[in-house]
Amino acid sequence: MSFISRTHPQQGPNEVVDDRQITDEDFVPLHRRFRFTLDVAASDHNTKLPRYYTIGDDALTCCWKGERVWCNPPYSNIRPWVEKAMQREAVLAVLLLPANRTEQGWWQDLIEPGRRAGTICVEFLAGRMRFIAAKDTQIRPNQRPPFGVCLVIIEPS
Ligand SMILES: C[S@@+](CC[C@H](N)C(=O)[O-])C[C@H]1O[C@@H](n2cnc3c(N)ncnc32)[C@H](O)[C@@H]1O
Repeated sequence: MSFISRTHPQQGPNEVVDDRQITDEDFVPLHRRFRFTLDVAASDHNTKLPRYYTIGDDALTCCWKGERVWCNPPYSNIRPWVEKAMQREAVLAVLLLPANRTEQGWWQDLIEPGRRAGTICVEFLAGRMRFIAAKDTQIRPNQRPPFGVCLVIIEPS
């Protein structure tokens, strides 16, 4: 049987993969380091910060100017989030992205050139991060996706 990833974009929006929330345990050290001001991909139940945008606001059409942006986007459609961050309106944008899709167009077109040129910083994180499942409030067993993640850090040129 051939392998089909549950997170590949051609499968369309999928709450299971689009609504995973980083744990406070993993988020707090990042927040301490980057001092975020805005969670741009959130809902009332999973925001990591007091200030956030939801799908109703549509962060992709909102202004990120002057913000220190935290972005754990819906993994079913990553490209528009990277494109938005690449506009470099934010003082800083840190995206938490799957590290197993570096062959895909959004990575190759948008991230790889900047990574090679040194204008985008990529940090591959050790191990497999656990996530809180959609609509849940805490970690349950088997909430570790089968891929590693990376931080993509984008700042004004
Ligand atoms: C992977 S979850 C992130 C959860 C949590 N905020 C975190 O940082 O771990 C992505 C969230 O983005 C929301 N979302 C999807 N499209 C959006 C949009 N256009 N603007 C803002 N939020 C959106 C989804 O509803 C979902 O809650």
